[in-house]
Amino acid sequence: LASIEFDLTKVQEGQQVVIKWQGKPVFVRYRTPAEIQRLAAEPQAGSPPESDAARTKEGHQQYLVVLGNCTHLGCVPTFGTGEFGGWFCPCHGSHYDASGRIRKGPAPLNLVVPDYEYVSDTRIKIG
Ligand code: FES
Repeated sequence: LASIEFDLTKVQEGQQVVIKWQGKPVFVRYRTPAEIQRLAAEPQAGSPPESDAARTKEGHQQYLVVLGNCTHLGCVPTFGTGEFGGWFCPCHGSHYDASGRIRKGPAPLNLVVPDYEYVSDTRIKIG
């Protein structure tokens, strides 16, 4: 399947749902106001440096959609651990923030935001 649709009402605030797209895990995370506020205080971060706004869709910044593979060697990072309020990859110790931007460790790049769009207020189409 080239593209899939996902109903965002299945994700609760502060939680993430992992779906599969083209054989890869995709994290869909409903972020809390506190996390969004914290990210706004660090406008540019990661590699390449990016703003959280550039990694989300306008008007839907509570939702982050990223591929769930570490950009080092492809392990699946765990949310809620690590030093930057986001994901931690246990394979070799990469830390990502709540925008999926790499902040520390061997991974060279931010978690990848796939092509996706909102087909309604509560539904996205990935791919
Ligand atoms: Fe994630 Fe190496 S695969 S740190």
